[in-house]
Amino acid sequence: MDWVKGGRGRRSEDPVFFKLLASFLIITTRIASAAVSSVSSSEPSFVFNGFEGADLRLNGGGTVESNGLLRLTNFTKNEVGHAFYPFPFVFFNSSSGGPLSFSTSFVFAIFPQYEDISSHGIAFAITPSTNLTAVLPSQHLGLFNFTNNGDPSNHIVAVELDTIQNREFDDINDNHVGIDVNGLTSISSAPASFFLDSSGLQYENLSLISGEPMRVWADYDGKSMVLNVTLAPLMNPKPERPLLSSKLNLSSIVLDNMYVGFAASTGAAAGSHYILGWSFSMNGEADELDLSKLPSLPPRETEDNTTVKKPEIWIILLPIIIFLFLLIASFGIVHLVKTKKKFSEVVEDWETEYGPHRFSYRDLYRATNGFSDEKVLGNGGFGGVYKGQLPKSKLEIAVKRISHDSRQGMKEFVAEIASIGRLRHRNLVQLLGYCRRRGELLLVYDYMPNSSLEKYIFDRPQQSLNWSQRFKIIRGIAAGLLYLHEEWEQVVIHRDIKASNVLLDAEFNGKLGDFGLARLHDRGSNLQTTRVVGTLGYLAPELSRTGKSTTCSDVFGFGAFLLEVACGKRPIELKTSGIDMVLVDWVMEFLKKGEILEARDRKLGSDFAAEELGLVLRLGLMCSHPSPAARPTMRQVVQYLEGEATLPDISEDDFYVFDSSSRRNKILVDETSWNSCTAATNLSSSFSDSPSSRRN
Ligand SMILES: *[C@@H]1O[C@H](CO)[C@@H](O)[C@H](O)[C@H]1NC(C)=O
Ligand SMILES: *[C@@H]1O[C@H](CO)[C@@H](O)[C@H](O)[C@H]1NC(C)=O
Ligand SMILES: *[C@@H]1O[C@H](CO)[C@@H](O)[C@H](O)[C@H]1NC(C)=O
Ligand SMILES: *[C@@H]1O[C@H](CO)[C@@H](O)[C@H](O)[C@H]1NC(C)=O
Ligand SMILES: *[C@@H]1O[C@H](CO)[C@@H](O)[C@H](O)[C@H]1NC(C)=O
Ligand SMILES: *[C@@H]1O[C@H](CO)[C@@H](O)[C@H](O)[C@H]1NC(C)=O
Ligand SMILES: *[C@@H]1O[C@H](CO)[C@@H](O)[C@H](O)[C@H]1NC(C)=O
Repeated sequence: MDWVKGGRGRRSEDPVFFKLLASFLIITTRIASAAVSSVSSSEPSFVFNGFEGADLRLNGGGTVESNGLLRLTNFTKNEVGHAFYPFPFVFFNSSSGGPLSFSTSFVFAIFPQYEDISSHGIAFAITPSTNLTAVLPSQHLGLFNFTNNGDPSNHIVAVELDTIQNREFDDINDNHVGIDVNGLTSISSAPASFFLDSSGLQYENLSLISGEPMRVWADYDGKSMVLNVTLAPLMNPKPERPLLSSKLNLSSIVLDNMYVGFAASTGAAAGSHYILGWSFSMNGEADELDLSKLPSLPPRETEDNTTVKKPEIWIILLPIIIFLFLLIASFGIVHLVKTKKKFSEVVEDWETEYGPHRFSYRDLYRATNGFSDEKVLGNGGFGGVYKGQLPKSKLEIAVKRISHDSRQGMKEFVAEIASIGRLRHRNLVQLLGYCRRRGELLLVYDYMPNSSLEKYIFDRPQQSLNWSQRFKIIRGIAAGLLYLHEEWEQVVIHRDIKASNVLLDAEFNGKLGDFGLARLHDRGSNLQTTRVVGTLGYLAPELSRTGKSTTCSDVFGFGAFLLEVACGKRPIELKTSGIDMVLVDWVMEFLKKGEILEARDRKLGSDFAAEELGLVLRLGLMCSHPSPAARPTMRQVVQYLEGEATLPDISEDDFYVFDSSSRRNKILVDETSWNSCTAATNLSSSFSDSPSSRRN
C-alpha cells in the first residue's frame, strides 16, 4: 500500500551504512507500532496505546512527550496544535460511488489554565491535507479561519469537543460535542454527556475541561450514512446509545485520499490538550484501546496548587485591570479636555498688568455651583447675576455675566474695569475683578445680602423701609456719587443711577452698583451712532440731544432717585388710561399747592422726619431741572443733605414750568452753563497713570 511508504529517508549526511540501517530501523518500528493490523488485515487500521515512537505529522504545539503522551497544546495562549496520521486513507468507494465506513476511538484530556475559564477544544478531523497552515486558534479550533469557515471546498469533517460557546457558530453551550462539516457550525451537537441505557432517558453530564481522561467513539456507516459519536469516562464501557447519531452523506465531502488526526487550540486562556491513545479503522470497528498501556497524565498544573494559580490569575486579571485603568484614564483625559474647554478663558498679553483683578473662570464656576439657577440673584440689563462664594477665601461674591460679541474696545474696557476696581468707597459696590472668556465677560462684585433698594420701595413690597433707613441710603448714595464725580483721581460718570442700581448691605447701607457698565453697552452695541444709555425717566433731557453723559446728567438721575425713594413711585408710571404719570410733574403739583409732603410714600405712615422728607423732595425737583446748569453739583447735594448748606426755597417759577404736556418744548439750555458739567475722564488711560494705587 502506497500510504505506508510516505516520508522516509532523512539524515542524508550520515554514512551510507548507518543511513540504511537507520532507514531499516525506522521502517520496522513504524510498521510495528503504527500500523500493526494494516499489514495483516485487508483494511487499513492502526492503534496507538500511547504514542511513544509513533510517526505523526505534528504541527504547532503538537508534541509527543517522553511517556508517549500526545500533547496538542502546551499551555500557550492562542496556540494551534495538530497531530495527523502521516498516511492518507481512501474514504471513497469508487465502485459504488459512495463513502466508506470508518471507526475511531480515542482518549483525551483537557487541562484548562483555570478551572472555570476554559481554553478551546479538541477536534478529531478528517482532512484532505495535514498541512493546515492558514488556520486560526481559539474558536476556529485550528481547522478553519474566518474566510474559509463553512466553505464546501474545505472537505473537512470533524468531531468537535468544544469548551467555549461561540454564538457565531450557534454553539449550544460551552461544553458540548458536535459534528462539523466544512465549518464550525455543527450539523449536530449535544452537551457533553453519556447515556446510561439505550432508551436515552438516563444520562450523566461530563465536563470536558475537568482534566479527567475521557473516551470518544466515532463510527460511520457508509451504507446507512450515519455518523455516531459517543462519549464516556475513561473507565466506562462504550455506552449503548451514542450521544450523537447523525445522518451524513459524506460522498461529496470526502475526497479519495483523506488524512485523519487531531486539532486543538487555545485562546485568551491557555490550556493543554492531550491525547492518550487512539485507534482507527476503515470499514471495520476500531480496535479497543488497551487502557492499561495508556500513558499517565501529568499532575494538574492548575488544580490544588494555589501558589501557582494565583500569579496566573494575575496573568488574566492584569490585562483587564490595565484595560480598566486605561479606560478610566481616557475618561479622565476626556474629562480634563472638556473641563479645560469648559474653564477656558481669554487671556491676552496686555492683561497681565491687570493680574490682580483677574479671576479664574474655574473659581467663579465653582463659586456659583456652575452658574446654577439657584444662584441667580437677578437678571440685569446686561446679563444674569449670580451669587457665589469664593472657594478659598469664602468671600461672598456676586458675579455678573455679560455677553459680549465684539473684541473691539475690550482692551479699553478691561482697563476701565481695572480702574474701577481701584475705586474704594463705602457707598460703592466694590468691583473685585473680572474674568474674560470668549464672548463673555464676568464681573465680580462684593455680595450685597439685602439686594436692590427697588425691592423695598416699589409696588407692594414685602418689606418696606422706614424714613430713617431711606434717608441714610440717600445720604450714602450722594456720598458715593460725590466720590465718583469729584473725590477720586478721575471723574467717573455713573450713567445709570436708579433705585434698582442701589444695593443694600447687611446693615441696609446703600451702595451704588453697576457704574461704568453703561459704557460697555455703548460700545458693544453700536460704535457708529452714540446711543443714549440709561433708563427712561432717569435720563436727563439734554442727553437725547447731545448724547453726552456728564456729571449733570448723573445729578438728574440722582434727582429721579430722590423722588422715587421719597414717594415710593417710579419716575414714569405707565397708566392703563394711557396718560403716563411723570413723577416730577406729580411732585411739582404738590409743591404748587404748598403741600409737598403729601407726595410722600404712604407706606412711610406718620413716622418720618418732615424736615428731611421736605428737603429730599425739593432737592429731587432741583436735581431734575431740565437745564443742566440749574442742577446742583453733587458736592452741593451732599452739603444740603448733611445740613451744611441750606437749600434755597424753590417754587415752580424759579426754574421751570413743569407741565407734562409742554415741558419739553420749554426747555432752554443756557449754553454757558454747560461748562459746569464735567464729562467722564478717559478711565482706560488712568490705570497706567497711577500704578501706585493699584489694587493688590
Ligand atoms: C510550547 O511550545 C513552544 C513551541 O511550539 C515552545 O516555544 C514553548 O516554550 C512551549 N511552552 C511550554 C510551556 O512548554
Ligand atoms: C464498494 O462498493 C461496492 C459496490 O456497492 C461493494 O461491492 C464493495 O463492497 C464496496 N467496498 C467497500 C470497501 O465497502
Ligand atoms: C504547507 O502549505 C504551505 C502553503 O499553503 C506551503 O508553503 C508549505 O510548504 C506546506 N508544507 C508542507 C510540509 O507541505
Ligand atoms: C483560510 O484558509 C484557506 C485555506 O485553508 C486559505 O486559502 C485562506 O487564505 C485562509 N484565509 C486567511 C484569511 O488566512
Ligand atoms: C446536565 O447539564 C445540564 C446543563 O448543561 C442540566 O440542565 C442537566 O440537568 C444536567 N443533567 C444531569 C443529569 O446532571
Ligand atoms: C449508530 O447508532 C444507532 C442507534 O444507536 C445504531 O442503530 C447504529 O447501528 C449505529 N451505527 C454505527 C455505525 O455504530
Ligand atoms: C450523497 O451525495 C451524493 C453527492 O452529493 C449524491 O449523489 C447521493 O445521491 C447522495 N446519497 C444519498 C443517499 O443521499
